[in-house]
Amino acid sequence: MSKRDFIAMEDFDPIAIDDILALATRIKQGEINGGLERKVLAMVFMDPSLRTRSSFEAAMFLHGGHAIVLEPGKGSWTLETTLGAVMDGAGVEHIVDAARVLGRYADAVAVRTFPKGKDWSVEREDRTIRTFAAHCEKPIINLESTRRHPCQGLADALTLEEKLGDARGKRFALTWAWHPKALPTAVPASAAIAAAHLGMNVVIARPEGYDLDPEDLSIIRRQAERQGGSVHLVDNMDEALDGADAVYAKSWGALPLFGQLEAEQQHRSTLRHWKLTSPALARTNKGAGIVMHCLPVRRNVEVDDDVLDGPHSVVVDQAENRLHVQRALLLEMIGKTR
Ligand code: CP
Repeated sequence: MSKRDFIAMEDFDPIAIDDILALATRIKQGEINGGLERKVLAMVFMDPSLRTRSSFEAAMFLHGGHAIVLEPGKGSWTLETTLGAVMDGAGVEHIVDAARVLGRYADAVAVRTFPKGKDWSVEREDRTIRTFAAHCEKPIINLESTRRHPCQGLADALTLEEKLGDARGKRFALTWAWHPKALPTAVPASAAIAAAHLGMNVVIARPEGYDLDPEDLSIIRRQAERQGGSVHLVDNMDEALDGADAVYAKSWGALPLFGQLEAEQQHRSTLRHWKLTSPALARTNKGAGIVMHCLPVRRNVEVDDDVLDGPHSVVVDQAENRLHVQRALLLEMIGKTR
């Protein structure tokens, strides 16, 4: 039987996603213990993390399993990612060999690998995580790659269901926010896919030049149409927030200027007003739209303190849900009852 990787939410059948969300709810209610005894998860963090690392470690512990955490370059070998590379540079071990070896020790291998910020036409192929998947005999779990953060997407979907009830037909506003750096598009794409999976009416607000990758937009549209929702693009935050049931603030880089650091900085220098404030939030449905962010958040830059700490913010519940959905995901993928 071929292995099943979790690289993108849309790779799984929608029913399988709903099953994971339902299992996560039962786990959260304390109904399920154990199931990962003598199971091992190897995690390779090529980039930093607070939530993803700690929630996966906790998930493995809570179900009786064990997590190995590797940080290449900090106690484990630096990794070369380019296929066919002549390895006379900094990379000591190739990801092909790392994937093969870790697959012999662990029941699943999880990888975090952010874009390098050089050439979007190449990096959009998400080669590092896909190379891991191609060379590892065990399932691969995406801990955030160039294109997707599917575990965040699962947590976003669970949070929307918990807070809004049946989210179908409700308005999900994904709004670009200013940030000093050009961040990856994995989170906003995954959040929109999650909302589309729930059949929400997805509105994406972004300044000129900040469209998501066209393939991602097509996937979001396809998911929304299949689930009875819709997708609209607007060019100002207020329009997106009008009547919204949920607001997801997130920054990302301008893909047409990917790899052009100075030009991108120059382009975004006029966009500091793209910040989620209390007056903006007042435009949402009865002024009570829930406020979401994947965290980490730049306070008073992306979102104001009074919004993040206010009654409509669900960002900590959203972060907590990372734990519950990942417990469910691990049980589904490598658990003893599967
Ligand atoms: N949201 C999220 O993935 O957080 P970390 O980067 O801290 O893991």
